[in-house]
Amino acid sequence: SGLITFDPGLGNTGSCQSDITFIEGDLGILRYRGIPLEQFQDNPNFVEVALALIFGELPNQEQYAQFSASLTKNANLDEDMKHHFAGFPRSAPPMAVLSAMISTLSCFHPEFLELEDETQFARAAARLISKVRTLAAYAYRRSLGLPYNYPDPSLPYVSNFLHMMFSEPYKQYSMEEEVLTALNLILILHADHEQNCSTSTVRMVGSSGANLFASCAAGVSALWGPLHGGANMAVIDMLEAIHQGNMTPEAYVALAKDKDSSVKLMGFGHRVYRNFDPRATILRDVCEKLLNKLGINDPLLEIAKKLEEIALSDSYFIERKLYPNVDFYSGIILRAIGIPTSMFTVIFAIGRLPGWIAHWYEQHSQNDGKIWRPRQVYTGLNEGRFIPRSERG
Ligand code: CMC
Repeated sequence: SGLITFDPGLGNTGSCQSDITFIEGDLGILRYRGIPLEQFQDNPNFVEVALALIFGELPNQEQYAQFSASLTKNANLDEDMKHHFAGFPRSAPPMAVLSAMISTLSCFHPEFLELEDETQFARAAARLISKVRTLAAYAYRRSLGLPYNYPDPSLPYVSNFLHMMFSEPYKQYSMEEEVLTALNLILILHADHEQNCSTSTVRMVGSSGANLFASCAAGVSALWGPLHGGANMAVIDMLEAIHQGNMTPEAYVALAKDKDSSVKLMGFGHRVYRNFDPRATILRDVCEKLLNKLGINDPLLEIAKKLEEIALSDSYFIERKLYPNVDFYSGIILRAIGIPTSMFTVIFAIGRLPGWIAHWYEQHSQNDGKIWRPRQVYTGLNEGRFIPRSERG
C-alpha cells in the first residue's frame, strides 16, 4: 500500500470524466451543459433543464412535448404501491420513505432493470422523474393522514406536484404564478452539482451494474445527511431557535466559531465554492421577491439576513472563505410556498434527480465495465493472533 495516495474522501481526485456540469468554485461559476446557471432564471422550466442534463442539450419542441407526455402518462403509481405507504408509521421521515419507495419501483417495473438502448433509458428516466413527485406527495399526505390526490393529467410537472401535495377532494389547490416560478427555479438550482456526495454515491452504486432505481434510491440516502441535503432543514431549525429567543444571531455566530462546540452556521460554507455560491445569490433575490409578492413577512428572513451580515464581516468566515450556500435561503422560500420543513430535503431530492440520472447514464454509456473500488491507507494492527474465546478472560 506504499504506492497508494492518501486523499481523504477523494476530495482532490477526479473520480470520473464528465460532460454534464462545470463548476469553478473560486469564481462562483456553475454551468449545466455549458449554460451559465443565471440564464435559466427567465421563465424557469425544470423539465427542460432536466432534459438538457440527461440528454446533453436543451430539447427541441418535439423532444420536449414527447417527454412531457411521458411524464404525464407515468405520473400514477401502481395501485399496489399505495399500500406500502400504509405500512410506514405516520412519523416516518419522508426521506426514508422516498428512498424505500424508489427502490420499490424496481419491483414494479422490472422491465427497466437492464437498459438496452437510449429509448428504453428515456422511458425509465421519465418514469422515475414523474413518479418521484407522486411518491413525495403521497409520503406527505400519509404523514398527515390525508387522502392521496391522484395526479392531474392537465397539469404540468411542478403544478401537478403542488396539486398532489395540497389539493383536497373537490377543492383544487390554487397556485400563483410566482410560486410556480420560484419552485421551478429551486428545482433547477438543485438539479446537478457534479461529484457531490449523493451523485458520487449514485455513480458508485451504478458502477456495480445496479439499476437506475436502486442507484438513485442510494442517492436519496446520501442526500439525507445534515451536511448535504439535510442542511436546508437544519437552517430553518437554526433560524427558528433564534426567533424563539433561545439565542441572538450574534451569540449563534459566536457559537458556530467556537471549536469546542459542534454547532455550525448551517447553510454556510461549501467544499467547492470558496468565493460565493451562485445559487445562493439567486435564491436570496427570489426569496425577497416572492415574499414581497405574496405579502408574507417572515421574521426568519430578517434573521437570515442578519446572520449573513454578521458572518460576512467576521474574520473567521472571511479567512475560511465561508459564504451562504444553496440551503441558506431555499427553506424560507419553501416555507412561503407552504411546504413543511420535514419535506425540504425531499424537494432537494426531486430537484437533484435529473442530475443523478444524467450521471448514472453517462457512466453507463462510458462504461469501461469497471466497478468503482477506491483503496485505503491501512492504519490498523500489522499482524495479530487469533486467541480462542475461552482464553480471552
Ligand atoms: N460554520 C462554522 N464553521 C465552518 C462552517 C460553518 N458552516 N463550515 C466550515 N467551517 C469551518 C470548519 O470548521 C473549518 O475550520 P478549521 O479550518 O478551523 O478547522 C473550515 O471552516 C473549513 O471547513 P471544512 O469543514 O474543511 O469544509 P468542508 O469542505 O469539509 O465542508 C461543508 C463543507 C459544506 C460540509 C461545511 O462548510 C459545513 O458543514 N457547512 C454547514 C452545513 C451545510 O450548510 N451544508 C450544505 C452544503 S451545500 C448543499 C449540499 O451540498 O448539499
